[in-house]
Amino acid sequence: MKMNIATIPGDGIGPDIVREGCKVLKTIGKKFGHEFVFTETLAGGAAYDLYGEPLPAKTLEACCKSDAVLLGAVGGPKWDSLPGKMRPEQALLGLRSGMKVYANIRPALMFKQLSDACPLKKEVVGEGLDILIVRELTGGIYFGDRGRTEDGNEAWDTERYSKTEIERILKIGFESAQKRQKKLCVVDKANILESSRLWREVAEGMKARYSDVELSYMYVDNAAMQLVRNPGQFDVIATSNMFGDILSDEASQITGSIGMLASASIGDSGPGLYEPIHGSAPDIAGKDLANPLATILSCAMMLRFSFKLEKEARAIESAIEAVLDEGWRTGDIAGNSSQREALGNKLVGTKKMGDLVSQKISSM
Ligand code: IPM
Ligand code: MG
Repeated sequence: MKMNIATIPGDGIGPDIVREGCKVLKTIGKKFGHEFVFTETLAGGAAYDLYGEPLPAKTLEACCKSDAVLLGAVGGPKWDSLPGKMRPEQALLGLRSGMKVYANIRPALMFKQLSDACPLKKEVVGEGLDILIVRELTGGIYFGDRGRTEDGNEAWDTERYSKTEIERILKIGFESAQKRQKKLCVVDKANILESSRLWREVAEGMKARYSDVELSYMYVDNAAMQLVRNPGQFDVIATSNMFGDILSDEASQITGSIGMLASASIGDSGPGLYEPIHGSAPDIAGKDLANPLATILSCAMMLRFSFKLEKEARAIESAIEAVLDEGWRTGDIAGNSSQREALGNKLVGTKKMGDLVSQKISSM
């Protein structure tokens, strides 16, 4: 199978981690007889510096024409004072809406090897954590009307959802739950927001079709608390764009590090967009310090969702487990020096981590 992948290294640690993702995909190609052709494109601050805009039309075009897109991260202090439309983050929003990838699937999975990196007490996390967050990605307050009054003293952003937008997210939520623990929790703020009440109405209308799934609702403030009080109660969470953004960062910390969480953004057809959920960490960019595993896990999601290559996706995941089993850790998951010594962990950089995963795949 030949697959054309558009890569967007982006800013900060983006290039460091995308390089490792491509390395691992190449290894998969060799091992399983596939050809991955990579085309690098520019977006974010890197594109702004060169072309004066964060998402040049030709980048979006290259992405839409590809079979899948691998993105590193965008943004950094260098571009923080630019007007909203020119900010690197705008590239992400443009890509998500331009590629029509309305559903963002973020598995918050705790690797048992990293249970020591989890900040919660053992009795709270129990056996670990395995939550699937399905975040709406091309609507809500991220895309609603926003503005400022002429005198600049007032500003507004709008949360607006259509039934269609809600239904297609909940469908993925229900179907994902059917393949897992059969529990779907819709997280909202229905005690205040009319848009949240619409989410509930749509969910009520759909639940008969998924009678094997236990549907529940939770206000987002409570959900933020329940995630650290009893994370094991959650199976699949479906929620709006902004609540999903916030809760997925929170869930990532429970798994030990935001450097471990992958994501897949998918739509009805066309290429998917795969990216780690973390940011561009400009302070460690280019220093061989970033954890590439979230990106490598995003590549596994790409193989699974876009190319239906389940065996190959599993190969990446098992290779990562094996590397963690052997004690290899990037700084974010290594603990401090005394913890490292006690656990026998070995500290490695970005490149070495990518090499280790690749070697494991080759030797499987
Ligand atoms: C994410 C990020 C982005 C978002 C930012 C960088 C625009 O936080 O993918 O979670 O808010 O969606
Ligand atoms: Mg975020």
